[in-house]
Amino acid sequence: PATAQGGGAPPAGDDVIVLGEVGALTGGQATFGISTRNGIALAVKEANAAGGVKGKKLVVRVYDDQSKPEEAAQAVTRLITQDKVVLILGEVASSSSLAMAEKAQAAGVPMITPSSTNPSVTEKGENIFRVCFIDPFQGFVMAKFARENLKLNKVAVLQDNKSAYSIGLTEVFRQKFAELGGKITATESYSQGDTDYRAQLTAIKKTQPEGIYVPGYYSEVGIIARQARELGLKVPLMGGDGWDSEKLFELGGSAIEGSYFSNHYSPDNPDERVKKFIADYKADNNGAVPDALAALGYDAARVAIEALKKAPDTSGPAVRAAIAQTKDFPGVAGNITLDAKRNAVKSAVVLKVQDGKSTYVTTISP
Ligand code: PHE
Repeated sequence: PATAQGGGAPPAGDDVIVLGEVGALTGGQATFGISTRNGIALAVKEANAAGGVKGKKLVVRVYDDQSKPEEAAQAVTRLITQDKVVLILGEVASSSSLAMAEKAQAAGVPMITPSSTNPSVTEKGENIFRVCFIDPFQGFVMAKFARENLKLNKVAVLQDNKSAYSIGLTEVFRQKFAELGGKITATESYSQGDTDYRAQLTAIKKTQPEGIYVPGYYSEVGIIARQARELGLKVPLMGGDGWDSEKLFELGGSAIEGSYFSNHYSPDNPDERVKKFIADYKADNNGAVPDALAALGYDAARVAIEALKKAPDTSGPAVRAAIAQTKDFPGVAGNITLDAKRNAVKSAVVLKVQDGKSTYVTTISP
């Protein structure tokens, strides 16, 4: 079962407002959940230092879903029935957010996913929000970059058929790349957790692509990169936000160098607001540089806190209505205005893997 974490948060009482959080603190997506956790913790610490909300301190009840959608759904049920949270923050992986959104929507408890990009997540209903862009845009970004910047004509795709995120991004990329005059030479699949991708990569190699789009998560992508190079596939790899983890460089080593991925944020951003966030985050996290998950976790929590302040009370309908009104909110991963479909419309950055880290290349706007 999902395990509770978060330093023994006190139960709901008159003096506190309890927020729920569900994340992958262990398993194949652990860096996603940990970074998000740290970003949310910083936002809550700042809000409490500034007096809390409605004269009460905020506490966060956190559950580890072990990178599994079933566990994420169970955790939401607990947050709602046992912990009586006023709203829920999470998840990162779209498949987990989809499982959670179902429950949160049915119970009328608002949920904000910091970073799930699959369009279906917020389509679960009026209580479900996100503070990031969606995959029809993200897929377009890399298709455009592949065609116009890298000047690629022929690209193969390798998707994770266990991830709603990967399946959705594959569909959009294939369509946009073709619309821009490119050719998709092959589409191969793997299942999250696989360790041998040689059969798919061999099939891809036969079609002689000039690049390979791998819209998966870092745990698998790092190994895929190594096996691709071992098989003599030297073309650039391209991916999406799911690559964003320190672990990608560890797993991929030199094989991932020279690859590109789209993301929500770059720590190279010289904006004062971003610089302050990076400094504060580093101070709380042993010098770690915040990744996009940390930035979006921080932004999602701040949007939630702002809504709790504005709402007349902390009931589901009141908080939901306040979140829906989010407009020009100054996030560290871009300004946030929620549209009628409860999604944020924002630019994306393209990053290049270079010298064991990701380096800013360009920004692409909707
Ligand atoms: N967008 C991914 C998904 O929906 C999650 C993700 C976001 C991963 C940002 C890394 C960085 O599954």
